[in-house]
Amino acid sequence: PKKPKTSYVCSECGASQPKWAGQCPDCGAWNSLNEQLAPARPAAARGGGYAGLAGGAVVETLAEVAPEERARTACGIGELDRVLGGGLVGGSVILLGGDPGIGKSTLLLQACAALASSRRVLYVSGEESPQQISLRARRLGLDGEDIRLLPETCVERILYHAAAEQPRVMVVDSIQTLFTEQLQSAPGSVSQVRESAAQLVRFAKQRDTVVFLVGHVTKEGALAGPRVLEHMVDTVLYFEGESGGAFRLVRSIKNRFGAVNELGVFLMGDQGLREVKNPSAIFLSRHDEPTPGSLVMVTREGTRPLLVEVQALVDESSLANPRRVALGLDQNRLSMLLAVLHRHGGIGMFNQDVFVNVVGGVRIGETAADLPVLMAVLSSYRDRPLPLELAVFGEVGLSGEVRPVPNGPDRLREAVKHGLRRVIAPAGNVPKGGVEGLEIVAVRTLSEALDAL
Ligand code: TYD
Ligand code: MG
Repeated sequence: PKKPKTSYVCSECGASQPKWAGQCPDCGAWNSLNEQLAPARPAAARGGGYAGLAGGAVVETLAEVAPEERARTACGIGELDRVLGGGLVGGSVILLGGDPGIGKSTLLLQACAALASSRRVLYVSGEESPQQISLRARRLGLDGEDIRLLPETCVERILYHAAAEQPRVMVVDSIQTLFTEQLQSAPGSVSQVRESAAQLVRFAKQRDTVVFLVGHVTKEGALAGPRVLEHMVDTVLYFEGESGGAFRLVRSIKNRFGAVNELGVFLMGDQGLREVKNPSAIFLSRHDEPTPGSLVMVTREGTRPLLVEVQALVDESSLANPRRVALGLDQNRLSMLLAVLHRHGGIGMFNQDVFVNVVGGVRIGETAADLPVLMAVLSSYRDRPLPLELAVFGEVGLSGEVRPVPNGPDRLREAVKHGLRRVIAPAGNVPKGGVEGLEIVAVRTLSEALDAL
């Protein structure tokens, strides 16, 4: 067969080159040329204006469009349904990303098994042999009776089989192993990943099939990884958590059919991933003795409050530029908070290294962590432990004010539920009658909060 025409397009300037080169001849950027299919000549350009384009979509008034409630299918794993926004939507494409070995294949095999009893499921694997998958299924205690398996890496051949099988749900594990015959570049390159995914997305929409794409991310954020796919798919889920630990978090980063930042929590065990239905306190390490620098904060990820331990270590620095290291938090935010602490709390840390860690590998994106981080830092700096039954949350502004955060009362109730007795919280978050069983210290400014310690 005739090879389709391809060209090399620069990701920096968009110029198109007939041949690959290390440097773009137009803008001079290095390593920016990616192979792409040459576009077919559009009908309008072939002469005759736009008359040849009649048919296709029609223009209508927005008010005329009847909203359609998309039916959802529960995939049988509650925590996965939760991050998906309540189940699978027909024809949607879901990207599941994460570090190698974190549990992507395990989760999807379990989901397939749960779905297979009621609908046709096709599991396409480019990474593992059918024997390896069968071994995993056995380990997970799944009979695999209804799961259709296809070991294949060529997209065209995958789509050929899929068209015959007509699955309602198709898993492609992983997108980095696929290649399309239309491009010459190697599997895993940006061009291959993007073009393969585009074909699978088209299939999903045309056949109303749910397609899961597995994508590996490397620590550097992976150039050829799933990042380039995020805008093409409907939903993006990422695995978080330390692969050494037992907990696995799945977070929705993008979702056309639900809320973002929703968290699903799992426990990796001998028999695969088990749901943790009530995860609010799993990230607390229960100390027997109060320890300096350790503090419980009440955060809210998605629609669920979560009690998380934050740890700080402040130590005299021998460096001209003392270190500021934040794990699970934004580094710049930490620097900003330390500046606020100096300016409005009168405590400077110029000659100190400051390390902050969120226990359990959770990533906290919300500002409610500000006040607890500062308090943990201070506790370590002074080498004075905070009471075990204390929890803190609140945003700290640049002028030293403590601002309320969303869903304050929810967080307070969650704290009592787990046996915490005292909470330092923004005044704007404290309900009038207080919360039963809880001593609440309502603060308006950072200095009020520091006085409360
Ligand atoms: P896997 O799903 O293969 O990861 P990914 O597809 O994201 O690369 O998970 C592999 C890890 O999970 C591996 O280190 C073994 C572990 N594991 C368990 O601990 N229990 C189990 O029941 C299974 C199937 C895997
Ligand atoms: Mg895998």
